Amino acid sequence: MAEIKLPKHVAIIMDGNGTWAKKRGLPRTLGHKKGSETLVEVAKMCSRRGIKYLTVYAFSTENWSRPKEEVDYLMGLPQAMLSRYEDDLMRDNIKLKFIGFREKLGKNITSIIDRVEEKTKNNDGMVLLVAFNYGARDEILEAAKSIASDVKNNKLEIDDITKEYFSSKLFTSGVPDVDLLIRTSNQIRISNFLLWQISYSELYFTNTLWPDFSEKDLDEALFAYNNRDRRYGGIKK
Ligand code: FPP
Repeated sequence: MAEIKLPKHVAIIMDGNGTWAKKRGLPRTLGHKKGSETLVEVAKMCSRRGIKYLTVYAFSTENWSRPKEEVDYLMGLPQAMLSRYEDDLMRDNIKLKFIGFREKLGKNITSIIDRVEEKTKNNDGMVLLVAFNYGARDEILEAAKSIASDVKNNKLEIDDITKEYFSSKLFTSGVPDVDLLIRTSNQIRISNFLLWQISYSELYFTNTLWPDFSEKDLDEALFAYNNRDRRYGGIKK
């Protein structure tokens, strides 16, 4: 039997919540509510399949431009979801980590994130990374600035700035690069997500709207990944 290749790190752009709601004549916020339930289910499925890292795009640095009601709803989700699911994270041995810019989030949100990250830090099953107020260009810029400042203050030699060192300055420090990036809702773009970390990712796009994303959709994506021939710029062996 052929060996099954399971991606170590899966990243998902969870798109189509608004469209899902609109199709039903519902407010967009209800699309996000259903989308967050899908996220819980998909995280459990990935964990059961032995995927080691799952990163999801929950709120981008560009999403602040959405209507206030929608932004307020999305900002309330970390608290609502973490208080509801923290026991499940412990039971399923999942370690939670939020990536993104925390300054703008406010104390109410960051204190619950800090608390659940601390509580789950010794879980050694899947790592669930939630990108919240995340933007890849700013992430890369901040890493560049921090490295430039270390060079300026004679703490670092220019020749020590390797790809590995640069990676260690990103929010995903210590996390391997993304193997498989999934985007739902028939949108074929990256939208400022994990630009450094997806350099050699396999990309998978599906028409399924995020709230409808099921076990079958996940398995189709994993099946497609399994059939890809990853060469990293080399040639077929
Ligand atoms: C994109 O759909 C989705 C988002 C901007 C939000 C995704 C967030 C969740 C699924 C839950 C987040 C969970 C936590 C823990 C914070 P869209 O609104 O752009 O859909 P559209 O393109 O159909 O309008």
